[in-house]
Amino acid sequence: METLEAIRKRCSLKNQLSGKEINPELIETILGAARLAPSARNTQPWRFVVVQGKDTIKKLTETAFFGPAVVVGDAPVIIFVCARPDDDVTVEEKEYYLFDLGLAVENMLLAATDLGLATHLVASFNEAEVKRLLNIPEDVRVVIATPLAYPPGASYDEAAEEKLSQRSRKDMREIAYFNKWGEQAAE
Ligand SMILES: Cc1cc2nc3c(=O)[nH]c(=O)nc-3n(C[C@H](O)[C@H](O)[C@H](O)COP(=O)(O)O)c2cc1C
Repeated sequence: METLEAIRKRCSLKNQLSGKEINPELIETILGAARLAPSARNTQPWRFVVVQGKDTIKKLTETAFFGPAVVVGDAPVIIFVCARPDDDVTVEEKEYYLFDLGLAVENMLLAATDLGLATHLVASFNEAEVKRLLNIPEDVRVVIATPLAYPPGASYDEAAEEKLSQRSRKDMREIAYFNKWGEQAAE
């Protein structure tokens, strides 16, 4: 899959997670893609906790995830993305550590999509409970999680078809200006 194809095909698929095991090499490839992301002053503030044990995932779904996010427990792997805010680079009061994490996370999602794996970012978890279950230190924030799973059907494309057909995005004119704020490109 080419990069642009992966960008177009990535979508959130929390209702399309099979329990099929994932080869550790694929997980390494996905984390490797995250690791190559740029970061402010190359601080690389991201830390990943890869949860694979069925018992731990069950506990997480029983006590930490809430709302519709609990279905992520169907996956054989859940990755928590963490950082120490102290590792931040601040420029004009803008804290860049979360920005850096976002770059790494998107790399991770695109790599997973390229490999035919379903992902779905979720913030709906009790951070204190996640930290307790996973031994994450007090000064670390748990920013986001994603399941990693093969879709239950024959292929990623099949699993993503319905979701992609319903995708909603703002109009380009609403988000992109040319030369000055609010100005549109010449027709
Ligand atoms: C920071 C962040 C937090 C999110 N948290 C949740 C969540 O808690 N539960 C959920 O179902 N989806 C969550 N999502 C998924 C978004 O709803 C989803 O990315 C958005 O609707 C766009 O759909 P798409 O990912 O299929 O393109 C989150 C996404 C991001 C980027």
